[in-house]
Amino acid sequence: MEEQSLLFFSLLFIGCVFGQISYTIPEEMAKGSLVGNIAQDLGLQNKRLASGKARIYTRETGEYIELNRDRGVLLVKERIDREALCRQTTPCALHFQIILENPMEFYTVTVQIIDINDNAPTFKRSEINFKISESAITGAKFLLASAVDLDVGINDLKRYELKPTDNFALKVQNNASGNQNVEMVLQKPLDREKEEQISLVLTAVDGGEPQMSGTMLIVITVLDANDNAPVFTQSTYKATVTENSPKGTVVATVTATDADLGTNSKITYSIANTLKNDIVVFEVNDENGKVSLIGNVDFEESRTYQINFLASDDGGFTDSCELIVEVQDVNDNKPEINIMSKSNVISEDAKLNTVVTMINIEDRDSGENGKVQCFISETVPFILQTSTNNFYSLVTDSELDRERASEYNITVTCSDEGVPSLSSSVTLTLQISDVNDNAPVFERSSYEAYIVENNTPGLSIFTVKARDADWNQNARVSYILEDSSVNGVPVSSYVSVSADSGVIHAVRSFDYEQIKDFHFRVKAQDGGSPPLSSNVTVKILIQDQNDNPPQVLYPLQTGGSMVGEMVPRSADVGYLVSKVVAVDVDSGQNAWLSYKLQKATDRALFEVGLQNGEIRTIRQVTDKDHVNQKLTVIVEDNGQPSRSATVIVNVAVADSFSEVLSEFTDFSQDKEYNGNLTFYLVLALAVVSFLFITCLVVIISVKIYRWRQSRVLYHSNLPVIPYYPPRYSDTLGGTGTLQHVYNYEVCRTTDSRKSDCKFGRAGSQNVLIMDPSSTGTMQRIQSEKSILDEPDSPLEVRKHFSQSQFTVSVCDH
Ligand SMILES: *[C@@H]1O[C@H](CO)[C@@H](O)[C@H](O)[C@H]1NC(C)=O
Ligand SMILES: *[C@@H]1O[C@H](CO)[C@@H](O)[C@H](O)[C@H]1NC(C)=O
Ligand SMILES: *[C@@H]1O[C@H](CO)[C@@H](O)[C@H](O)[C@H]1NC(C)=O
Repeated sequence: MEEQSLLFFSLLFIGCVFGQISYTIPEEMAKGSLVGNIAQDLGLQNKRLASGKARIYTRETGEYIELNRDRGVLLVKERIDREALCRQTTPCALHFQIILENPMEFYTVTVQIIDINDNAPTFKRSEINFKISESAITGAKFLLASAVDLDVGINDLKRYELKPTDNFALKVQNNASGNQNVEMVLQKPLDREKEEQISLVLTAVDGGEPQMSGTMLIVITVLDANDNAPVFTQSTYKATVTENSPKGTVVATVTATDADLGTNSKITYSIANTLKNDIVVFEVNDENGKVSLIGNVDFEESRTYQINFLASDDGGFTDSCELIVEVQDVNDNKPEINIMSKSNVISEDAKLNTVVTMINIEDRDSGENGKVQCFISETVPFILQTSTNNFYSLVTDSELDRERASEYNITVTCSDEGVPSLSSSVTLTLQISDVNDNAPVFERSSYEAYIVENNTPGLSIFTVKARDADWNQNARVSYILEDSSVNGVPVSSYVSVSADSGVIHAVRSFDYEQIKDFHFRVKAQDGGSPPLSSNVTVKILIQDQNDNPPQVLYPLQTGGSMVGEMVPRSADVGYLVSKVVAVDVDSGQNAWLSYKLQKATDRALFEVGLQNGEIRTIRQVTDKDHVNQKLTVIVEDNGQPSRSATVIVNVAVADSFSEVLSEFTDFSQDKEYNGNLTFYLVLALAVVSFLFITCLVVIISVKIYRWRQSRVLYHSNLPVIPYYPPRYSDTLGGTGTLQHVYNYEVCRTTDSRKSDCKFGRAGSQNVLIMDPSSTGTMQRIQSEKSILDEPDSPLEVRKHFSQSQFTVSVCDH
């Protein structure tokens, strides 16, 4: 069809233009395609063409058309590209001449090239990149490259399409220079967080048939804008931490994310709350959100912590979250022991279950760590009782005794049940106060002390001592002399006891001859209330001193008396003239008497028995011997120093009494008057002497027998007082207590002559002791109990040794 229309045009040219012909062909015809039958159109014979050497003449480069002279047609020689040939120019035609020779003829041929849609619109670049911030506002325009279609006319670029159209719309505008501005306009904001890269395809479509198109890829990189706030992964975090964890321990990590990119997503963590002290306990790493300890976590102070965190990006967007940290208890608190009330002193007679101390225990830990048990370590008479939780009372468990333990250190230890267990202890010092529960106790069960007689009054004899186990006043011992009597006299007149020291003093001077021993009780009493006491028996033994000289009983020494012995001139050698009888009231050695002849008229005539005092003749008496012989006999005791007494014995050496009288005229003034008297005297003397010696023999026999049975008697009981000298009454008359009158004859004045005198009557004791060292005898008369019934009655002691009578008697009425 195309071809026919072209043909039509050719004919048209032939008709009007001599030698001018025109053809129209589409571009891109195949090689050898027929352009036009030129011979026919020009009315030429093929012969002419051949003869005329018809040829194509052209100035243009390239030969697209060739002439086939044989057929008389124009053929396409080269591919004809209109776009290459004419670019955008229209119409596009090839102009050439056909030249003939013989004759010369030429014909102008125009071959018009018709465009076909053989070019698609093309973009300069297949891809175009944009970086658009997500913050770009709608309406923002972005210039795109326009496409080019080499075809012309209808085949030229017709329109653009942009896909997808989510965010952008296409806007094509003819600009001033006649070109088209292809722009895309942001219609919906971008979101990098949703779509980081957007790919769009811009399609340029031409109007040809078939339609052709070119595409360009538009790659949009969405640039980040800080349009997103950080977001914590959890709104509430939970963590646990054990108390006392070291500083720096990471407790938890809070994490926030920011959808933005780069610096826009850089999150800084911080602690938001300023509550209490929490802030000094925790810190958060501002970069990684690690929450760590910077302070001490103390369960006892706070069991949970609530911390608010803030995450912020550079743009000032923030988010917050909360971290709840639970603190776990660790047994880090010792039990605390509080003494609620306490007595420092408790009486030793306190009853059982007396509360001494109350304590309260507190352990700030919880659970097992806070369960506390208390106990006492030592074995003390106290126990810990618990009443209610954490209250303990220390009570007495057994009886107390200050004397055994006066002080207790009680250590109360309390430990909790944590692992490891913690404990604390407190020491209570408890004094036991004294109660007067101990009586004084004497060091000995009885005391015996010796004192030598004739002591000075006030002399301290010895000391009794009692101890009291109690304390202070309760142990202050006072010594008290207990009332009793010694021989009817209050003991206080004998001794006194110093209340403080227990020293026993003699109140008086003791006389062994009066009292040999006595005993009394001393009471020791403490100062308690009521006081306790005990007593002890004290026995005082008085020791003898040689304080008494021997007493000569016979012969009696009376001033100027003419007592004498008669020795008949016929007396043989060894004739017993007389016997000096002496006693010593002392005892023992102090009473051992010895007799010696001190002076004598004729020393060769008499001797005195050393032990027995017997005066005997030692030679035959002669007529030449003096009638009147005077002997001085000394009696000594064996004491240290010894004491002595002398006695003068007058001995008449005569055969008759008258002879004696004549000799004795000088000293017997009342010879006439006493004539009878002297006779009776001598008679009585003889009788008495006989009786006396008889008695002595009897008594000695008895005593020897007894003595053999008990030899001890000699040493222990020898100091019996054999005799008390006349008028030897109480030397301590001041006290008025003892009125011992010892005599060999005591009679009341009222009826002394007629009194009923008996020899050795009841109430007096006659003791005859045989001296074991000699055969001599000696009589000792002890008259211990001669205390007169009426001490105040006047007494007269009368000695009778007259009218040739010698009486040794004791009268007691
Ligand atoms: C017109 O558009 C073309 C291509 O699109 C461009 O190169 C040219 O600068 C534009 N002229 C004006 C005045 O915008
Ligand atoms: C009790 O403790 C005190 C002070 O430590 C000490 O002086 C005293 O001797 C102790 N008493 C006893 C009975 O241990
Ligand atoms: C002396 O002590 C004894 C027991 O040792 C007691 O029986 C007696 O009653 C006491 N005497 C006095 C007077 O207290």
